[in-house]
Amino acid sequence: LIGVTLALWLIPAVVQYHGGLVLIWHDVIVERMLNTLTRSTRPQRLLGAVQKSATRGDPCSVVNAIDQFCRHTEWAMNVGDEKGCILDSVVSEVNPATVLELGTYCGYSTVRIARLLPPHAKLITLEFNPDFAAIARQVIAWAGMEEKVHLVEGASGEWIPKIKEQFGVKALDLVFLDHWKDQYLPDTKLIEECGLLRKGSVLLADNVIFPGAPQYLEYVRSSQQYESQYFKSHLEYTKVEDGLEKSVFLG
Ligand SMILES: C[S@@+](CC[C@H](N)C(=O)[O-])C[C@H]1O[C@@H](n2cnc3c(N)ncnc32)[C@H](O)[C@@H]1O
Repeated sequence: LIGVTLALWLIPAVVQYHGGLVLIWHDVIVERMLNTLTRSTRPQRLLGAVQKSATRGDPCSVVNAIDQFCRHTEWAMNVGDEKGCILDSVVSEVNPATVLELGTYCGYSTVRIARLLPPHAKLITLEFNPDFAAIARQVIAWAGMEEKVHLVEGASGEWIPKIKEQFGVKALDLVFLDHWKDQYLPDTKLIEECGLLRKGSVLLADNVIFPGAPQYLEYVRSSQQYESQYFKSHLEYTKVEDGLEKSVFLG
């Protein structure tokens, strides 16, 4: 009984203040334990929570179902509800016709962004893990957002150069960077080289403090080509400091 209490309540309550421990506990120990016990994967369990609690065709209920599941049942690496509010306000302010998201995972932020897009806008989201992409497709469909979302299964480095041609895109209004952190800088440079930014395009990068993207931050903050601003928040579903960096391309 003491062991179960520790595992279910005390350990999560303590580790939520320490980024490294959060990842070791939730992303390694708990995930592997639950995978073995339930013979399923975390993305499958997350999809199950959506199917159980969210209303088909209602994107807000999908976002809420995932947040409830991740706060109370099982942590997962979605941008989450707290940073999600910052994401929402940037999407609403930019009111983009074309969005690129790097890193779909289970489609949480995809649905979050897509639900705020104006009619005829499109969101291209890239995910290189086929298992995650398969779950994301079902989450996006449950939310009724398939028409706005192009989910591409592939690596960012390979797909960014194909975006103009494949999707008839002239320029991206908004890029949400939320894939592996060491790819933020090379992919930003690739996006620039491919001529995908126009004056006023906005880059919004998650996790710039934890796990952190120091080279990317240094680049956008010191470059004359960007006006950059930090939005302080917390790592999803924890009390660890993290935040989003919004960088406007000045041309
Ligand atoms: C933090 S998760 C994305 C979370 C998601 N944006 C959300 O908030 O719901 C990062 C995802 O990026 C994917 N990824 C990492 N590097 C990638 C790359 N170079 N190209 C495509 N996907 C990548 C990983 O497989 C993982 O699913």
